[in-house]
Amino acid sequence: MSIQRIIVDTDPGIDDALAILLLAASPEISLQAITVTHGNTTVEKCASNALQLVELARLTHVPVALGASTPLVRELGIAEETHGDGGLGYAVLPRSSTQLYPKHAVDLIIHLIHKYPNEITMLCIGPMTNLALATRRDPSIVPLIKRVVSMAGTIHYPGNATPSSEYNVFCDPHAYDIVVRAGFDLTVVPLDVTYQCLFQKSHIARMTTARPEIVKFIEDATRFYMEFHDEYQNIDGCAINDPLAAAILVRPDLVELLDYHMTVELSGKHARAKTSVDHFKAMGFAPNTKVAMKVNVEGFMDFFIERINNL
Ligand code: BDR
Ligand code: CA
Repeated sequence: MSIQRIIVDTDPGIDDALAILLLAASPEISLQAITVTHGNTTVEKCASNALQLVELARLTHVPVALGASTPLVRELGIAEETHGDGGLGYAVLPRSSTQLYPKHAVDLIIHLIHKYPNEITMLCIGPMTNLALATRRDPSIVPLIKRVVSMAGTIHYPGNATPSSEYNVFCDPHAYDIVVRAGFDLTVVPLDVTYQCLFQKSHIARMTTARPEIVKFIEDATRFYMEFHDEYQNIDGCAINDPLAAAILVRPDLVELLDYHMTVELSGKHARAKTSVDHFKAMGFAPNTKVAMKVNVEGFMDFFIERINNL
């Protein structure tokens, strides 16, 4: 089994929390850092959630670093109607005694990339501000990052932030634009596949061997997320976006990737933050992303439940 060094850049966030649990349950992953960004709630609340989650997941050896508190250009937006006032739905975790890493997330990203050249995969499951800032401050990291896997964007599926934009890109479209154009080996996991992965109460019932506090956390967090999906989107269950991006690190066979040239709309009245791909190669641009356009839903759910059952 080859071990992958991963930095997860995240805004926990209910589905971010599930992704962190999945990483913790995966022996193929050596988690090097959790770098926190604004997004589902403020960066301070997201960081406090990350500190509680490393205790829940027994990952206290992993540094948690506070990152960007605001997007590069646009105003801060948070999604407490989706993730709850604290960001983790109805879940209440014990107060954490773990301390934040003493430096900024961007410093930690740059430090680790130089320490392990060509070895680190960035798993980005929140707005892209931290990686965009790191890229701007030290462009030499671009060829040294093995791969970027990002849950973001939507191609044909309706937007969940505006009619045409996905939440992570909507929160900081300028940061996403920097990363798309930087020249990374970039894999994008958009709503087109994540909104097929609807997590239901029946999935929780199959988590029979996980520690009781893990199951209780998942129950309490996802109950809120399911209520949101029902009330705002008329969807039964909840889309577990971020865990799918984490899962494909270990199980790339769960999705089918297409090589696409992707652009991010930075202006415009109705389509701001829309991600577009040149499906018919009408523009003749070289591909800059691999985009997951098909998913084995049952295979993913089975994998997720099996892994959580080992926690
Ligand atoms: C993405 O936005 C956030 O609300 C979720 O955590 C996920 O990363 C889905 O659009
Ligand atoms: Ca997220």
